[in-house]
Amino acid sequence: MQREPQAFDRVLSSMCTTPHPVAREAAERFLATNPGDPGTYPTISDLEAEAIDLLGEVAGLDDPAGYVASGGTEANIQAVRIARERARVTTATTETPTVVMPESGHFSFQKAANVLGVDLELVPTDDDHRVDLEAIRACVDKTTAMVVGVAGTTEYGRVDPIPELGEIAQSVDALLHVDAAWGGFVLPFTDHAWHFDHAPVDTMAIDPHKMGQAAVPAGGLLVRDETLLDELAVNTPYLESTSQATLTGTRSGAGVASAVAAMTELWPDGYREQYERSQANAEWLAAELAALGYNVVEPELPLVAADIPTATFEALREAGWRISRTGSGELRVVCMPHVTRTQLESFVAALDALESEPEPRTTQ
Ligand SMILES: Cc1ncc(COP(=O)(O)O)c(C=O)c1O
Repeated sequence: MQREPQAFDRVLSSMCTTPHPVAREAAERFLATNPGDPGTYPTISDLEAEAIDLLGEVAGLDDPAGYVASGGTEANIQAVRIARERARVTTATTETPTVVMPESGHFSFQKAANVLGVDLELVPTDDDHRVDLEAIRACVDKTTAMVVGVAGTTEYGRVDPIPELGEIAQSVDALLHVDAAWGGFVLPFTDHAWHFDHAPVDTMAIDPHKMGQAAVPAGGLLVRDETLLDELAVNTPYLESTSQATLTGTRSGAGVASAVAAMTELWPDGYREQYERSQANAEWLAAELAALGYNVVEPELPLVAADIPTATFEALREAGWRISRTGSGELRVVCMPHVTRTQLESFVAALDALESEPEPRTTQ
């Protein structure tokens, strides 16, 4: 039996979205290509170079290097791998290299630490969910290979103070990695200092398949200097090319082609319009939830968190709303490009109707 994918009309928890029509079309056309074998598939390989140039424009990097990864997880793992290799060379120490990261960092760094044998040191965030700089300063030392800053956190959409993190990283000869996997395509339209031109950023995760409206899989790893990629390269004897820096071997050309198509179509005006729409939606939702009496975490980027009773949350899920919770249990709504005002109005109406029901509800 032919199955259909889920509809997006009640999806409020995802950090992915419906691809832009040009991205969908490009993904379909390049489905049977493999940028992992650039000698045999030269067109998609050229497109990947274009994708990196475009990502560089978005992230303030003039002469960018990097590649289109499977997603933010791979980009983060590879960034940690670069830092680990650099640390071996530069500190010549036998101690285990550490990665210092705010506790708001994505769980993909736990995978990185596990796979790569580095220690992950989590540092607390402040009352507004940004990293505590004093705690970072207290944590770094000569074993620190990398400091991570998040530009658009997964749970609250917060941006860490990236320039200050850069100074701290440099003070111990560590690399600075910025995880802008989700935020990278909305931050250019804000006043935040988050990218290569704002701070001494060495590596960055920035995913076309999230706010960039490309088809999955299209993550992005950007590095300031081509030599950083050399830390990842292995020889590839049986291919027409000679070395490979990616984590996966065979990769889908669909993600690469769709990333180029989406960025060519939308950078910068289309992304700006999308950011303005999504941010206005997030602010509208936050105001509605506050008016209903819930504690709301103000949306600095298009992501709203609010404390709603557990029973209400469960009832909304039962009713088909795809919603998720932060680690502290708040409702979390990501205003992705597919999320419309009408959809949010239905959601608020459903929430309001549940809360107005007479039977008593347990709160969290
Ligand atoms: C900030 C951040 N980094 C990394 C990731 C992981 O990305 P992916 O799921 O594409 O591997 C996410 C996922 O939402 C994220 O929000």
